[in-house]
Amino acid sequence: MKTLKFAVLPGDGIGPEVMDATLAVLEAATKPEGIALDFTHADVGGIAIDNHGTALPESTLEVCRNADAILFGSVGGPKWENLPPKEQPERAALLPIRKAFNLFANIRPGLLFKELVDASPLRPDSIPEGIDIVCIRELTGGIYFGQPKQTVTLEDGDVQAVDTMVYKVSEIERIAEVAAVTAKARSGRVCSVDKANVLETSVLWRKTVVEYFKKNHPDLELSHLYVDNAAQQLVRDPNQFDVIFTENMFGDILSDEMAIICGSLGMMSSASLGTDNNSQGLPYGLYEPAGGTAPDIAGKGIANPCAQVLSAAMMLRYSFGLDAIADRLSAAIRKAVEDGVRTGDIAFGKSPVGTTVMADAIIERL
Ligand code: NAD
Ligand code: IPM
Ligand code: MN
Repeated sequence: MKTLKFAVLPGDGIGPEVMDATLAVLEAATKPEGIALDFTHADVGGIAIDNHGTALPESTLEVCRNADAILFGSVGGPKWENLPPKEQPERAALLPIRKAFNLFANIRPGLLFKELVDASPLRPDSIPEGIDIVCIRELTGGIYFGQPKQTVTLEDGDVQAVDTMVYKVSEIERIAEVAAVTAKARSGRVCSVDKANVLETSVLWRKTVVEYFKKNHPDLELSHLYVDNAAQQLVRDPNQFDVIFTENMFGDILSDEMAIICGSLGMMSSASLGTDNNSQGLPYGLYEPAGGTAPDIAGKGIANPCAQVLSAAMMLRYSFGLDAIADRLSAAIRKAVEDGVRTGDIAFGKSPVGTTVMADAIIERL
């Protein structure tokens, strides 16, 4: 019997709620195929601070190292907001775990099913067929990780903080390759987003991307946009894009924008991949919703589990090679929302259901 060995790190806020729902869906999708799930829970984020005194315990890293993939919820929230910044869950757990496994490529699909067009804030006539684009975000470089990163008191008593945006050619080339491979499997169109009219890192980004595509992927249609223009073009006409790829912080911001034009953060999944293969000979990856712990709705049982389920589907696809089951999960979600089974974030006129009812509706339609 094929066994899928993965780490389950639910984290904080809605993380555990959508994770429980997702594991039930995953079980229902794999069991009839004769596939067994071998997953191990571990604490990460605020809950790990509470239970172990640190946001990313060594024992959690060990669980991840012994697995073929990580299914991750979300971390952070009001309870830990007053800790020193470097000890908070986001900076002490999420960024280090991405770095620890060298997960430099973050793939975030912007998919709005035709049946869900009414949940998008965009005019329905501007997206009659829905939306189908993808953001490739560089995840282990840029201003998130560059040094120095500190706050200092100056001689005159003023206080100054500094973050540093750093990119190397090698880092730009490897994410360009991921964008190219993604574009090849889709329409062949790829748009690189930067701020080359201001930032030195963006000047290097654009030059590197142009040369890399010219040399390695002359068949692809490469375009460039400044990030401010890209932000408004996304709202004006999202389907003019196919693959968007960009540096870490621009990708963070643009992907939330993509999520909302596709209905909700509760619908956007992601895969973070690196250079390592797992014991299956497939990419080791971390799979998590693009959104966060949603403190405004946490504990109420009303969070949308779809982003977490779709993240699990990406895990099946990339880390376990189970494309057919991944497709079935996506189709079941599509059918459920088409039938009007929707959580509050995507309900718009329909009467909203809770997390477990949404998950059950997906299971029924597998
Ligand atoms: P958020 O993504 O948690 O929430 C933004 C909005 O989207 C809220 O209104 C929320 O209710 C809604 N939303 C998000 N996911 C949803 C879902 N599955 N179903 C329904 N609605 C959903 O962003 P925030 O409020 O800025 O951040 C809250 C906390 O989460 C912060 O501590 C932040 O740092 C953290 N965060 C963590 C991750 C992560 O772990 N990957 C990602 C983003 C934010
Ligand atoms: C995301 C999140 C994280 C990021 C935060 C919580 C560190 O917003 O995954 O998009 O900025 O990468
Ligand atoms: Mn984000």
